[in-house]
Amino acid sequence: MRKKKIFYVITFIILILFITSLSFAFDRVKFAAISDPHISIPQQKGVSDGFKLGLKTVMLTENAVAEINKVPDLKFVLVGGDLTQDAEPWNIDELRRILDALKVPYYVVLGNHDLSLVPHEKKDQPMSLSKYSVAGAFIGRSGGMVPGMTYYAHEVAKDLVLIGLDTSRAQVFVPEANLNDYGGRVDVGQMRWLESMLKKNRKKTIIVLTHHSMVPWHEADKSKEHNFWRWFWMDNAEEVRALLKKYGVRVVFSGHRHISTRYQYVDDIYHFITPAVSTYPMRYVVYEMTPKELSWEVKNIPAPQEVWDLAKKNFLANKWWRGPDHPESPEGDQKYLEFYESPQTMKGKITFK
Ligand SMILES: [Fe+2]
Ligand SMILES: [Fe+2]
Repeated sequence: MRKKKIFYVITFIILILFITSLSFAFDRVKFAAISDPHISIPQQKGVSDGFKLGLKTVMLTENAVAEINKVPDLKFVLVGGDLTQDAEPWNIDELRRILDALKVPYYVVLGNHDLSLVPHEKKDQPMSLSKYSVAGAFIGRSGGMVPGMTYYAHEVAKDLVLIGLDTSRAQVFVPEANLNDYGGRVDVGQMRWLESMLKKNRKKTIIVLTHHSMVPWHEADKSKEHNFWRWFWMDNAEEVRALLKKYGVRVVFSGHRHISTRYQYVDDIYHFITPAVSTYPMRYVVYEMTPKELSWEVKNIPAPQEVWDLAKKNFLANKWWRGPDHPESPEGDQKYLEFYESPQTMKGKITFK
């Protein structure tokens, strides 16, 4: 009789623990995403409004923060890298000031513009800091970084793990392209760390935030001849995707490409891209996620009409960002606008397979 009683009590406790663990797992999480603020305070010498609206980066990022603060029930904000013009200390301070006005925790990753530059004869480099200093300015609730590291993993809601990667690598001037190499990769040490984090959290829902994409977004990005287009997605993308696939990662959010939100399903993972704050069409995204699906809405960052007009004018006038497939003609302009504005994916929903 006593044994039977003990059996019932233990069964009851196990049942309660089981039900409790189920009820605590996240069922719906709302979060926002911005990317590529490229903060450059107007007082800095040489800052101007081009394809990137250098002089407007502070205003645009502040306006994005103000709008995101109005979204009810928001849990956190993702910031997809290229935080500063080129890792200048004054721009790091300014971005930290702006993002700290968010009412919820935010998580940043480093972009190719957030590390020290190697000076070369063609360019006067500004005073850029080491990426470890940039990461060090965004520790804890203000950025998600952990001391001494440039990447992290955090449980951002019950059983929802966010992994922030560091895809930045040395930017060396490439004379043939007349550009600094802006490619990225996940280095060997970080790959080992990544696998250990994925293994540890394999029973949870995992999402990844990264600056460089793991997939090309356009035919030109696949080109071997135009190596500067290839620099839009990481060098070892296949290797990283294979690792994420092995552990059932659900979604990857990236920035860097400066196109509006769209997505691809590659290697059993949904890859989303976040629009840039600093370039046309200046936008942010609000996501809602459950363990089964992800829905989103892309919104314009409020700015005076003259700023929008300038952004579009500078966008259309820029030869470089058009790439080989968008020639300067009425049809070329239309294709160019469609590629960067992506009107079909302003709103949407996907169901995880
Ligand atoms: Fe960027
Ligand atoms: Fe970038």
